[in-house]
Amino acid sequence: LKVAVLMGGPSAEREVSLSSGRQCAAALRGEGYQVVEVEAGPDLCARLSEAGPDVVFNALHGRWGEDGCVQGMLEWMGLPYTHSGVLASALAMDKTRAKDVFRAAGLPVAESLLAPKAAIVKRHLMAPPYVVKPYNEGSSVGVHIVAEGANTPPQLTDADPEVMMVEAYVPGRELTTTVIGDKALAVTEIKSEGWYDYHAKYVAGGSHHVVPADIPAEIELHCLDYALRAHEALGCRGVSRADFRWNDAAGLDGLILLEVNTQPGMTPTSLVPEQAAVQGWTFGQLCRWMVEDASC
Ligand code: DAL
Ligand code: MG
Repeated sequence: LKVAVLMGGPSAEREVSLSSGRQCAAALRGEGYQVVEVEAGPDLCARLSEAGPDVVFNALHGRWGEDGCVQGMLEWMGLPYTHSGVLASALAMDKTRAKDVFRAAGLPVAESLLAPKAAIVKRHLMAPPYVVKPYNEGSSVGVHIVAEGANTPPQLTDADPEVMMVEAYVPGRELTTTVIGDKALAVTEIKSEGWYDYHAKYVAGGSHHVVPADIPAEIELHCLDYALRAHEALGCRGVSRADFRWNDAAGLDGLILLEVNTQPGMTPTSLVPEQAAVQGWTFGQLCRWMVEDASC
């Protein structure tokens, strides 16, 4: 079987995608697949036609690769691809739309609103602490945290998008759960100095992962249940990863679903491969499962 691994692309998560893509390509070769590595750009359609793969392994992250755009092109081309389809990808990538779906499914989310940059810098749009972030980026790119008691609103720059999400800051611990097919795998707790930013995510030693997390059984079961329900509510396919914050002082009421990532990282420091390993899967077996699950 010939597999084209899509990676790179123009999003802010380009480097993360190159890392995910290279690692997946190497693993798939190790599993005996014929692999072509394809860097995504405007000529992607022509390059895929030329490569003629049987299956596309989508290792893109962020806009274009995770938001339904590439998925739509692959549907047109009739090429089976890994991960979620057009609608689930588009919904999950838009944090506001995803929250509407989660709320309708009875899942707990943090209070938030969308606002133009000009309004966000003028005055507090909610009581601090809160977070200002792009509603359609990943890997913590462009996230501003306004601390409790802060007098002034955040200073945004030209690099920030014109409309951003303002979200209540949920204090507490960072938890994450992978869904593969119809099964939620495990709960990981991420411990980092300061908050889990881009650096903590991708620099070796930038964060410390505890899996299975040392948390009460009730919280673990709810993370697994919420992750699966969120995956299903969005209509995700294959692998996804749900991220949570848990304020342990508030018990179960303190558990909040932040988002679902439909193209979770597959880099050497990423969380999904670690959870798969706890289930006894090698990285190669995980990639093989994803290729076999691909459809269009
Ligand atoms: N957005 C990154 C790749 C993740 O969720 O793992
Ligand atoms: Mg994300």
